[in-house]
Parts: sequence; C-alpha cells; structure tokens
Amino acid sequence: MKEIVVSGSRPTGNLHLGNYLGAVKQFVLMQEKHESYFFVADYHSLTTHPNPKDLHENVKTVLVEYLACGLDPNKTTLYLQSDIPEITELYLFFNMHAYLGELERVPTFKEKAKSQPDNMNAGLLTYPTLMAADILVHKGTHVPVGKDQEQHLEMCRNFARRFNHVYQQEVFPEPIPFNMGNELVKVPSLNGTGKMSKSDDENSCIFLKDSAEAIRKKVMRAVTDTGPTTPNETKPEAVENLFDLMKHVSTQDTVSSFEESYNNMTIRYGDMKKQLAEDMVNYLAPIREKIDAIANDNTYLRHVAEEGKEKARISARRTLDEVRNVIGFRNF
Ligand code: TYM
Repeated sequence: MKEIVVSGSRPTGNLHLGNYLGAVKQFVLMQEKHESYFFVADYHSLTTHPNPKDLHENVKTVLVEYLACGLDPNKTTLYLQSDIPEITELYLFFNMHAYLGELERVPTFKEKAKSQPDNMNAGLLTYPTLMAADILVHKGTHVPVGKDQEQHLEMCRNFARRFNHVYQQEVFPEPIPFNMGNELVKVPSLNGTGKMSKSDDENSCIFLKDSAEAIRKKVMRAVTDTGPTTPNETKPEAVENLFDLMKHVSTQDTVSSFEESYNNMTIRYGDMKKQLAEDMVNYLAPIREKIDAIANDNTYLRHVAEEGKEKARISARRTLDEVRNVIGFRNF
C-alpha cells in the first residue's frame, strides 16, 4: 500500500519545542519522500470557544511557524482544515458509527471533564472522530505525532476498521502514529514533571519564537534537585528531563560528558543548564529568523493557503466520492 503522511496541529497560540520535536520535525523529514498533507486544525480549536480575532491571529501564527520549521509547500500540501468541507462530511459519517461509551472512555475527554466541567460540549466528545476524518480523508497511513496522541490514533484505526467492516469494503487503511526514530517523542516540561505544553506555566515551555534571552532565562530556572550523592544514581524525573532535552539539541559528546559527571557526582547543574540554554538558542535560531522574515508577508501566506486548499480538496473529494458511493448515496 502507498504510504501517505498526514498530520496537523491546533492553532492555540505559538508552537513550542514539544510540537516541533514531537511532530513537525518528523513531518519535515517525511515530506521529502512521501505524498504528504499537513493542516492547521482550526476546527479542533473551537472546543475552547476562542474569540474570532484570536482564532484568526492564531491560525496565521501557526501557518507562519510551520513554514519557518521547514514545511515546504512545493513538497507537501499545507492547508487549513476549515477550507476542506469534505472533512466535516466524513466527520458526520464517522459519528454515525462512533459509540458514546467508547468516546467517553478516551483519556483526554476524561481529563477535560475534570479540568473544564462547565464546558463539556459535543465537539470535545467527538474530537476523535474529527481527527479520524482529518487523517482518513486522504487515506493517511502514517501520522507523525508526539506520544500524547497515541490514544487518538488507536481510535482512528478503530473507526477505519469499523467502516470497512460495516460496508464490507477496504475503503480505509489503518493509520499508525509514526516516528522514523521508532519511538514516539514526549518532550518534557522545564518544571520538572510531565510533558511540555502551552497550558503549563509560560516559564516551563520554550516557544519557537522565544528570544535568546527568554530561552536562557527559562532554562536557568528549570527545576533540578540537590545533586547525586552516590555514584551512578538513578536520576529523578526533573533531572532526567533536562538530559532528555539535551539529547534533542546538544551533541552526543556534550550529553556523554554531563552523563559522566552525573555518574561520578561532580555535576554542576548550573553549568549543565548554561550549556543546554546555549545549544537550544543555536538550535532554534534559524527557525526564529525565518518566523521574523515571513510573519508579515500576507500575500505569500494567502498564496500558500489557497494553493494548499486546491491540492487538498482534490484528494479529499476523491475519497468522499468513494465513501458516498459505498454508503449508498448514488445518482439515479
Ligand atoms: P496539538 O495541537 O496539541 O499538538 C501538535 C503536535 O505536537 C505534539 N506535541 C508534543 N510532542 C512531544 N512532546 C510534547 N511535549 C508535545 N506537545 C505536543 C502532539 O503530539 C501533536 O503531534 N489532536 C492534535 C491535532 C490534530 C491532529 C489531527 C494530529 C488534529 N487532527 C490529525 C494528527 C492527525 C493535537 O491536539 O495536537
């Protein structure tokens, strides 16, 4: 079967290092060799009821930042989810075969029920069917995402399998979450625990557009502990997290040298953070420069979105024509 790569990200503000290392960087590598689709998941962001001005600004921001990360409109199809009516059409079809019990059991839904009990809307419940429609509208087979999306991909495979079973035809593939490095990535927060996320406190999250100064300040304030007291000690989560971040942005030699000093108890976390901050600044500098270069080029951005919409709709329409026919919506 042909490999088709699909991924997306919600426009809820600036992209952070977790978004980049977990998904976008991987996608950029894959766009070179595969048919691929990347979209701004603007419908998904409606679950939190953004005001129209913020929504518009955020869509533009992430489009700029994707381009700055290396998504290339000449190699991939880059578009806005809301420009593709076929996605909502497929969402409707999947909702007819998605059951309340399974949707209520999704861990992200259960978390929202706790964190925002007064906004448990139907869009949150059916988030997994919309996500399945995003992917399957292009018959996606590989989905570069971070570890936090694993469960949603499991649901997507269920919906694909169920549709094929109900209509007794192999319409959809069963897409897998994908990382060429094999392991799905979870980029840790700087606050010592959990994953990096924009809903965390600002200082624990490195945004791609952060200035060198801001990055240094955040990294220097990262949580550690008092240091190892026996040789080769198991690292506490906060320290392990700093090493994890270092593995992404520093050279192997740098990581090994700090591993060694941790194991022989001579490590100074201040030195480690200084090195990590400088490596992170250098790692993100080219992206930041590109963000600044295109942020106000509305003509270019409009052109990218228009072209992406045209290309994405061709593939989406092809799938929906087939799906409608399989379901029984046929001409007289
Ligand atoms: P979103 O917008 O929360 O995040 C976008 C991508 O960034 C990854 N990510 C991380 N990866 C590693 N470590 C982290 N700390 C980290 N934080 C975020 C996410 O795994 C994701 O790949 N539901 C999706 C958006 C979406 C989508 C899709 C993705 C909608 N439809 C179809 C793929 C295919 C989401 O909320 O991602």
